[in-house]
Amino acid sequence: MFSELPALPEDPILGISKAFKKDQRAQKIDLGVGVFRTPEGLTPVMQAVRKAQARIVESETTKVYTPTTGAPGFTDAVLKLVFGADSEALSAERCAAIQTPGGCGALRVGAELLKRTSARRIVSGAPTWANHTPLFGAAGYALEMIPYYDAAASAIDFNAYLAAVKKLGPQDVLLLHGPCHNPTGADLSRAQIDAVFDAAKERGFLPFIDCAYIGFVEDLDADAYIVREAARRLPEALITFSCSKNFGLYRERTGALILVGETAERADALRSQAINVARGNYSMPPAHGGLIVAEILGSAELEALWREELAAMAATVRGNRQLLVDAASAVGLGNRLSYIAEQRGMFSLLPMTEESVTAAKERHGVYIVGAGRINLCGVHEGNAEYLAAALKDVMGQ
Ligand SMILES: Cc1ncc(COP(=O)(O)O)c(C=O)c1O
Repeated sequence: MFSELPALPEDPILGISKAFKKDQRAQKIDLGVGVFRTPEGLTPVMQAVRKAQARIVESETTKVYTPTTGAPGFTDAVLKLVFGADSEALSAERCAAIQTPGGCGALRVGAELLKRTSARRIVSGAPTWANHTPLFGAAGYALEMIPYYDAAASAIDFNAYLAAVKKLGPQDVLLLHGPCHNPTGADLSRAQIDAVFDAAKERGFLPFIDCAYIGFVEDLDADAYIVREAARRLPEALITFSCSKNFGLYRERTGALILVGETAERADALRSQAINVARGNYSMPPAHGGLIVAEILGSAELEALWREELAAMAATVRGNRQLLVDAASAVGLGNRLSYIAEQRGMFSLLPMTEESVTAAKERHGVYIVGAGRINLCGVHEGNAEYLAAALKDVMGQ
């Protein structure tokens, strides 16, 4: 039976990390996989996480199953964090959540829940995170693309995007990114978000908002604008929340699927459906990461420490953006990369071809994803100049 199954090619992003590790050149630079890194190349355990973990290890008395909704306290804490303590949607109990194995788990459960509705299509601005396609594909949706980012202009083509959005109908789902668009770093402005939600109200399509980087722009509450507005203005929405980057819990596989319904009763029904989807799949999420998040958000001291550390990570990435822009102009690339300073989060797209991406790797040991996605966490004071010179070499004048 298994002879029918051919070996599949390696995941393109994970493959880059492997190739990078093998590269012996001292000057090599990894701009590939999407994790936060310090200038020393480390993805540290946050202090708040260490402290929460120590408390849990000390006090945990059992490893018995958790409910399918996740670790006790996790979903309530996440809902309060995401929507804010004074959210009307929260007090009306229109928002429900289940803990999931990371943001990926939330996307998959959300997609399978949509399969139980009349949702016909899931539509996304192009380009989007490479893993969206297989995640939705596995649930039976071929992700459909509409224009979003104009690579030649290094900016969102909002007119084209909104025109396509306004053609969506009540059986359509629009996949939106929370803050820090992956792979472009080009986020919708508040006014643009408002216009998309006006269209959702008018046309009746459902927003599905994928939040993997809340807190990575500047301020957690400001970053949550898109989800808070969705819950405030629209009757229904699906939201994913990943704790991988903002809590640094990557390997603990911790996230949430948040369901916004028109009434408390609808939200309850949605939660029961999501539980049922999860039960038929992984049954219940791993508890450890959820316990850590609940412990942090349940302690004023740990939450303050966590917010401080998160703000510091966001500041590092912003600083790295400026470093690259300055170095690029110093090596004679002029303003060609100046848009990078305006963009948000870990990623930006460089104006590169597949050939120049390969040349960057082969000639300079600079590892870049696919059509030019870079993780700004790979840039620091010690390598910005070398990187800019390498980019100038492969991108031409
Ligand atoms: C846009 C986007 N969505 C979702 C995720 C899911 O993250 P995880 O499953 O690690 O929580 C990521 C992670 O890189 C992402 O970039």
